[in-house]
Amino acid sequence: MVPTWQTFSTTKGGERELTATRTEIDGAAGATTQAGEGGRRTVGIIMNGVTGRMGMNQHLFRSIVAIREQGGIELADGRRIWPEPVLVGRREHKLRELAERTGIERISTDLDAVLADPEYEVYFDATLTSARPEAVRKAIAAGKHVYTEKPIAPDLETALELLRLVREAGVKHGVVQDKLFLPGLLKLAELVRSGFFGRILSVRGEFGYWVFEGPEPPAQRPSWNYRAEDGGGIIVDMFCHWRYVLDNIFAPVKTVTALGYTHIPERYDERGEPYEATAEDAAYAWFELEGGIVVNLNSSWCTRVNRDELLELHVDGTHGSAVAGLHGCRIQPAAATPKAVWNPDIPNDIDFRSAWIEVPQRQSYDNGFKAQWELFLRHVVDDEPFPWGFDEGAKGIQLAELGMRAWRERRTLDVPPIE
Ligand SMILES: NC(=O)c1ccc[n+]([C@@H]2O[C@H](COP(=O)([O-])OP(=O)(O)OC[C@H]3O[C@@H](n4cnc5c(N)ncnc54)[C@H](O)[C@@H]3O)[C@@H](O)[C@H]2O)c1
Repeated sequence: MVPTWQTFSTTKGGERELTATRTEIDGAAGATTQAGEGGRRTVGIIMNGVTGRMGMNQHLFRSIVAIREQGGIELADGRRIWPEPVLVGRREHKLRELAERTGIERISTDLDAVLADPEYEVYFDATLTSARPEAVRKAIAAGKHVYTEKPIAPDLETALELLRLVREAGVKHGVVQDKLFLPGLLKLAELVRSGFFGRILSVRGEFGYWVFEGPEPPAQRPSWNYRAEDGGGIIVDMFCHWRYVLDNIFAPVKTVTALGYTHIPERYDERGEPYEATAEDAAYAWFELEGGIVVNLNSSWCTRVNRDELLELHVDGTHGSAVAGLHGCRIQPAAATPKAVWNPDIPNDIDFRSAWIEVPQRQSYDNGFKAQWELFLRHVVDDEPFPWGFDEGAKGIQLAELGMRAWRERRTLDVPPIE
């Protein structure tokens, strides 16, 4: 391994400090190299926010490192896409730790420097939502293709601005829509496609778990999630997911009604200090979908789980029903529906749970984040279709914004199309 490139920045004390190194790994050529030795097509990726929960676990370890461990992504003509990331963040020691754990050599605390480097053609952002637009604007201006965590921006106006910018720049763009790749929801989508439900009547969903208030046990989510001023709140977090889940699996969302609540007004942060929770930690929402499907979805960080999975969607249709989770999916066709009779005076003699059939696992499922990364990189390299661009990302934050408004104004709001 031969270090070939370094950048320095000036520290507060005026000393020059090493902020990034570039190393040729295993002879891989520069990031924009076309199929070189062994038909490898290296794609340089700026990964910003990899010291965070999602950036590190799902995007770095479970996606990019996993893709490298499997030898890259095979293309139809036998070439392989080889992701070559530079890990970007604000704390150098954290980046160094990550570099050691992953074997990825390139790190930088200087986003501008790596953006100016033509070796990197993709910018990925898993930083705080509030920090995202500025970095994404710079990346677009530098001609990078952009892939981001959801939401693409903290508000619809900014999301539409970013959509306009990627279109004008002609760069490729994508937003994480990981729930669509969950085995349980893939099975559910297949049931919908096959007509299993007949006419779908309603969807009732429960998402959530208890997030500890701290200090002991410490909270298992970052404290910014509970501060509105830092872009927190479960509506902005979850409605982006609900939008693409409902739109893609069932039908486009037509209206939204929501009630947010801050059940726990004080929590303890990462340093064990108390802080005021200014964002809602639960949201009780109703959505009406095209075709008359009524959806009731509860999202809560203040509920103790008595379900099989942290997310469950119960779908009722004229010909059958299903309960889908992250992994599993159970069905009950109309012909196997037991006859329930309301009589509170005698104990119930039907075991309702046993009247459901588990949908068998007929294929293996990859990690959803990794699966979507592979599709995005194929899109970048070979122009393969990638339907989850910033236009879809804007729809997510649109629904979150409308949900907040519906709650504040105590009314049902229409969801207009995004032009
Ligand atoms: N797809 C999903 O299921 C899912 C789940 C949770 C969070 N998210 C999204 O992922 C993003 C990150 O969430 P998280 O839970 O990993 O948060 P986190 O707090 O664990 O990580 C945030 C990252 O951003 C960096 N950061 C913080 N402030 C910054 C700033 N001002 N400038 C640049 N970088 C900064 C931090 O160093 C860290 O690397 C959010 O946009 C969130 O909406 C997605």
